[in-house]
Amino acid sequence: MARKNAFYAQSGGVTAVINASACGVIETARANRNTIGKVYAGRNGIIGALREDLIDTSKESKTAIRGLLSTPSGAFGSCRHKLKSLEENRAEYERLIEVFRAHNIGYFFYNGGGDSADTCLKVSQLSESMGYPLQAIHIPKTIDNDLPLTDNCPGFGSVAKYVAISTREAAMDVASMCETSTKVFVLEVMGRHAGWIAAASGLAAEEKGDAPHIILFPEVPFDKTTFLAKVQATVKKNGYCVVVASEGAQYADGTFLTDSGTRDAFGHAQLGGLAPTLAGMIKSELGYKYHWAVADYLQRSARHIASATDVEQAYALGKAGVEFALAGKNAVMPAIVRGSGKRYSWRIGEAPLHKVANKEKMMPKRYITRDGFGITAAGREYLAPLITGEAYPEYRNGMPRYVRLKNASVPRKLKDSFTV
Ligand code: F6P
Repeated sequence: MARKNAFYAQSGGVTAVINASACGVIETARANRNTIGKVYAGRNGIIGALREDLIDTSKESKTAIRGLLSTPSGAFGSCRHKLKSLEENRAEYERLIEVFRAHNIGYFFYNGGGDSADTCLKVSQLSESMGYPLQAIHIPKTIDNDLPLTDNCPGFGSVAKYVAISTREAAMDVASMCETSTKVFVLEVMGRHAGWIAAASGLAAEEKGDAPHIILFPEVPFDKTTFLAKVQATVKKNGYCVVVASEGAQYADGTFLTDSGTRDAFGHAQLGGLAPTLAGMIKSELGYKYHWAVADYLQRSARHIASATDVEQAYALGKAGVEFALAGKNAVMPAIVRGSGKRYSWRIGEAPLHKVANKEKMMPKRYITRDGFGITAAGREYLAPLITGEAYPEYRNGMPRYVRLKNASVPRKLKDSFTV
């Protein structure tokens, strides 16, 4: 059987370890040259396939591909582009198949979150019905940690570690200043609709009374009066108060505390700006001096402080994706399965894509304390192993050495261009 090439693309919000999955895909494909030809990456995700803008990863040295293991963000570029249904936009699917046929692509590896799982599933179903079957494998990734059927998602462990460490360090700062100056510090973290990242800040606390004193989860309706009362009581008791707020915090009616008004291709609201809103609320109602920070892209690109467990799992899932394809699988996602023993262990499992696509896994109630402002022992037990281990990049002149790929284009074969 003639060898088919593979297509790999990064999709959605990038992470500190998505390139580790790319490394797993490319190295494993290279180790199976007899079956898989070249790995072509989409420049800026699926948009690269639609525009026939493919990157030839075979032009990259072994060292450069290894370097992906410790390089944050998306080395090939990512995108938020929703493939509509076949009825709504048949032209896009026909174009994809045309590009894949022209470049002899038989394997489709899509590295993303819930929206991307939906794209991957559609590609698998429609390629079949359009007479050009592809093996489509979804490789999970999202800092939001909200994919179902996997114990956790690559990218999350590293953000969790960054947020837990930053919370502890900033809390030490406020504790030093609170006698005469700052009383409240508010940190805003990502996570969209799920509170996993905010929850991870709870790992900063070692003893009762330690920061964070208040965590705001999207899963717990925000009530201004209860919140301010808790801030005041904490300052009175400890001298200071550290609040970690999920950008997805919302009122009981489901409206976000902060919605910028901007929507992405999937209709998701762009969130952000909650920390200054809360800080302003605290100042005007309670009069405390405050500082606030929005971790924003800093948290999801912080490869210098990545979790070794996260890096290892991201690589393993990329590798497993290729192994699944070699085993003839289609429309599936390799997943992390947690061992049941006392000591943390994990292995790779398999999840059907139709059960993953477009579903969000929220924080279970049993991980949130009864007052709605903290994490329980069970929550801590779930989160703690995911941030363990350090995987420092190499440093030169005081800065991390991150790889820059050549990203050489594959010569185009089609005459027509395609506007996305
Ligand atoms: O999808 C992960 C995520 O980082 C969310 O936590 C965040 O709300 C969103 O992406 C931000 O997306 P963008 O970078 O497209 O603005």
